[in-house]
Amino acid sequence: MERVGSIEEVRQAVLAARREGKRIALVPTMGALHAGHLSLVDAACKRADYVVVSIFVNPTQFGPGEDFAAYPRDLERDFDLLRSEGADLVFTPSVDAMYAADAQVTVAPGPLGDVFEGEIRPGHFSGVCTVVAKLFGIVQPDLAFFGEKDFQQLAIVKRMVCDLDLPVRIVACPIVRVPDGLALSSRNVYLSAGERHAATVLYRALRTAETLALGGETDAALLAEAMRACIAEEPLATLDYAAVIDPATLRTLDVLAGPARALVAVRLGETRLIDNMPLSTGA
Ligand code: PAJ
Repeated sequence: MERVGSIEEVRQAVLAARREGKRIALVPTMGALHAGHLSLVDAACKRADYVVVSIFVNPTQFGPGEDFAAYPRDLERDFDLLRSEGADLVFTPSVDAMYAADAQVTVAPGPLGDVFEGEIRPGHFSGVCTVVAKLFGIVQPDLAFFGEKDFQQLAIVKRMVCDLDLPVRIVACPIVRVPDGLALSSRNVYLSAGERHAATVLYRALRTAETLALGGETDAALLAEAMRACIAEEPLATLDYAAVIDPATLRTLDVLAGPARALVAVRLGETRLIDNMPLSTGA
């Protein structure tokens, strides 16, 4: 496994792999890797011959007062994990290597970036789209792997690839959870023991909606209300949003008739957690 920090080194390594006829995959991450990230790398290794993992805590997707400085970083541990997972190249650029001091052009995510996470974190998805578009330009992968954990991010990246005709196929990977249901997240390390215990409320809320939907409930507002009620019962949790949406347009649904996704975002002390689950009707 090779470790490189410059864009030129990535281009050279990927060019050599491509000359050998290899299919190239990219897994973009911000590091502090856990089994969720590794499931993406594993999926990439199965579908491609040369797997590039980027580790870059991207400053432009953090708002003022967010956790950019405090975001967990442990590169040596990340390298060890990626080596055992079978990654071929790890790209760990500095902020200066990624962003020229006079850079001006950014990618606007459009209306999908204005709702839910985008409403609470203005500018977040512009930062995500810009860095992901840059990574696509640097690596030029055939395939790029994203987790359903960040469902809105996945929907926006798919939209960007479609609307900007980017020659890459986006592969969505399921959410990896610990046995009590909490979705793995680099931010889980911020939780106190009490908050960690309370954090299972996201999964419980989603399961409540799932169970009601499977039981035949098709009133989407009622499902969202049931999730809010579940979260309200947890004293350490503050609700940001709970919604039942169309997975492609992210529009709030009235009725559960086709594909649907339940989304929740909750604050536990200083930490924000997000989670989601597909909903299917009992029919
Ligand atoms: P990060 O939060 O490090 O996540 C990297 C990838 O891992 C994302 O596609 C995310 O959805 C996926 N992931 C995280 N937790 C997961 C879990 N429990 N199960 C499955 N997949 C999971 O998302 C970002 O970084 C950044 O916004 C990035 C796309 C790298 C752009 O900076």
